[in-house]
Amino acid sequence: MADATADPGASGGLQGLGRAVILLGPPGAGKGTQAQRITQRYRVPHLSTGDMFRDNIRRGTPLGLQAKPLMERGELVPDEIVLGMVEDRIAQPDCWTGFLFDGFPRTLAQAAALDQICGRRKLGRTIVLYMAVEQASLMRRLTGRRICKAGGHIYNIYDRPPRRDGICDEDGSELIHRPDDTEAVIKERFAAYDAQTLPLVDYYRVRGVLSSVDAMADADAVTASIRKILDGAIAAQ
Ligand code: AP5
Ligand code: MG
Repeated sequence: MADATADPGASGGLQGLGRAVILLGPPGAGKGTQAQRITQRYRVPHLSTGDMFRDNIRRGTPLGLQAKPLMERGELVPDEIVLGMVEDRIAQPDCWTGFLFDGFPRTLAQAAALDQICGRRKLGRTIVLYMAVEQASLMRRLTGRRICKAGGHIYNIYDRPPRRDGICDEDGSELIHRPDDTEAVIKERFAAYDAQTLPLVDYYRVRGVLSSVDAMADADAVTASIRKILDGAIAAQ
């Protein structure tokens, strides 16, 4: 997979930023796609709560058993479960100086809890990147998505196909279809997003930390917009 972001001169800038960066957007907005690129360029831990739950489900942990039926229905996992998992993860040494969230926070309660954590840890001003996409194009993105089993590399059978059918270009592993990427479950995920997550746009806007990114553009253009915002924040500190 060609990666327009590969840059041998990339700095470890975001780690030095000492703050949380949040990718906020609906299912299929491209949060995971962009998170992989940002992580590579700025060497910041990529914290996807969805990936953490999927990993727990694979390992059959009690957390995974709690999350599985909810994720299969397209509902959110309760705040206290999500927050416990996130607090444990960001207590790890690689998160001491900053981290990138993909899919968290997703409710006002999660956002308020994160504010408190960042305050306690004296982290810098959070950066929220709101990835706006028209809902009409999201269904095609999600039903066409395929994910590599080994490394989580993201493809799309319509717009970003692998070179060989069903095989990851990066590591040769099998590509899978996420069980919640069926039309019926996607509709439930959209409903959960509209009801519980969309209010975060205003929450962060009134706090002056929200930057909008046109996520309808192609993935390389979206990456360029995000880099501009993050490089600007690094330069300003
Ligand atoms: P999660 O895994 O976070 O799923 P999601 O929010 O529904 O988002 P997706 O992963 O589906 O989309 P994405 O934005 O990452 O898009 P991607 O880059 O893959 O959560 C799953 C579930 O876990 C939730 O439903 C909930 O149950 C639970 N959960 C997780 N976090 C939780 C929390 N905090 N609280 C409570 N519950 C939680 O791209 C999608 C497709 O589009 C790909 O095929 C890609 O190639 C393509 N694409 C990407 N960018 C572009 C572009 N610019 N143009 C064209 N195609 C593109
Ligand atoms: Mg994702």
